Amino acid sequence: MLDRSHNAAPLPPEIARRRTFAIISHPDAGKTTLTEKFLLYGGAIQMAGQVRAKGEARRTRSDFMQMEKDRGISVSASAMSFDFGTYRFNLVDTPGHSDFSEDTYRTLTAVDAAVMVIDGAKGVESQTQKLFEVCRLRDLPILTFCNKMDREARDTFEIIDEIQENLAIDVTPASWPIGQGRDFLGCYDILNDRLELMDRADRNKVAETIRLQGLDDPKMADHVPPALLEQLREEVEMARELLPAFDQQALLDGTLTPIWFGSAINSFGVKELMTGIGDFGPQPQPQKAEPRQISPDEDKVTGFVFKVQANMDPKHRDRVAFVRMASGHFKRGMKLTHVRSKKPMAISNPVLFLASDRELAEEAWAGDIMGIPNHGQLRIGDTLTEGEALRVSGIPSFAPELLQNCRAGDPMKAKHLDKALSQFAEEGAAKVFKPMMGAGFIVGVVGALQFEVLASRIELEYGLPVRFEGSQFTSARWVSGTDAAVDKFVQANKQHIAHDNDGDLVYLTRLQWDIDRVARDYPDINLTATKEMM
Ligand code: G4P
Repeated sequence: MLDRSHNAAPLPPEIARRRTFAIISHPDAGKTTLTEKFLLYGGAIQMAGQVRAKGEARRTRSDFMQMEKDRGISVSASAMSFDFGTYRFNLVDTPGHSDFSEDTYRTLTAVDAAVMVIDGAKGVESQTQKLFEVCRLRDLPILTFCNKMDREARDTFEIIDEIQENLAIDVTPASWPIGQGRDFLGCYDILNDRLELMDRADRNKVAETIRLQGLDDPKMADHVPPALLEQLREEVEMARELLPAFDQQALLDGTLTPIWFGSAINSFGVKELMTGIGDFGPQPQPQKAEPRQISPDEDKVTGFVFKVQANMDPKHRDRVAFVRMASGHFKRGMKLTHVRSKKPMAISNPVLFLASDRELAEEAWAGDIMGIPNHGQLRIGDTLTEGEALRVSGIPSFAPELLQNCRAGDPMKAKHLDKALSQFAEEGAAKVFKPMMGAGFIVGVVGALQFEVLASRIELEYGLPVRFEGSQFTSARWVSGTDAAVDKFVQANKQHIAHDNDGDLVYLTRLQWDIDRVARDYPDINLTATKEMM
């Protein structure tokens, strides 16, 4: 269990002002629109529409991206930094499609909080639920934004009840919607006793704020028609009676989520949510590591790789490792130790992901996300330190749920396939297994769509057409045990044995029956469905 008490003493101000979070949502709930508004208020872009425009420009670069666009899914994750008031926000984007859940899981190891966006008409959808469960595994604090209140939405109590029931978390309203659909006027800000009115005429205009002395303030009647006002007073009174009051500690413990109602496309409710993230959200948290936990206020710099993206620009064959800074104050040019290889690495061209463009980072603090271009030395799960042999833990690799044989379409180019697959394995895009017996590779993924993405990337980035074909195996398990037990097991089961990209042994299975048989016949052998990246 992570000991969060290390943050009891005040952090240095530069670290304390950082908020590192991700947005989780079901596709179409409004994540992109909300991100865009965040960036707009964060001064990172001048005009709404740029995130999408930039996305389009990037997508036209390749067929792979074209596929992403056609299917309306967002495959690649990125990080964005911007200031909001006195805070520095680091927003880490998570891929929305369920086929990319492993990537998403690892992304969530790099953040301290999540913003959950739900559609006011649809409530908690399947992907929201899945992502929420992942956040729960790490007790991540969650702030909720109920979007699209300018359209017909569900009853407010119904939405809150659904979250409480389906996700088993307490919900406290930070704001309360006044009317809905065409009658939606805005929100009563429960935390600050203010009226926030939406401007329908100008989508980019920030809501008008009217300060009030509570719900009975006579000024209310100047802005809210009598019927809606009566309903609002009744509902807020009821909500105060029936629902838990706001409690920052409960939010930080992950047991209570405050909910804001709004309309991202109308820029409504977004500033209030951002203020909530800043004022109530967690500061950079300690990081689980071996042999000891890392506290963000330590003087020495540490960081860990949670994502690798290769060939962001196919022309340059670059590879960027996304590093979450866990402690200290990093300055450009510093030499850090790459703990896995025990080798020093001069970090001379790190990149900060300022929303408008990639920019060279002169410095970074605990909580920040930094991109480090490299030629493949940095892998997911790697730790960088100023010399101490620390290893960040808790970044898992999951056994794939689908396996297929992969063959080069052109036998002359077969040897390039090895390189291409190995790169995607390092990037975390697939598991690649080299069977002990026979030729070729077996590729494992979590969702079927990943095979298509891989095939088009291999063709695009390596000029190598490939075919994925059914495999006799259906899943893989990592093998561990004493050397003697593993040797004996491998000798007797060569047909089932392969090595993964890190050289670790895996047992390929056809049926659950295989796994049960191993448990029965080889009590000294452990088969596991997850492996910790290191
Ligand atoms: P996602 O990233 O979660 O998938 O959602 P995205 O922001 O792309 O939003 C999905 C759709 O919902 C978009 O419409 C977007 O304009 C719309 N939307 C977002 N916020 C609101 C809101 O507050 N109110 C209403 N009424 N709609 C909202 P689209 O038609 O799919 O795309 P577009 O043509 O508008 O770009």
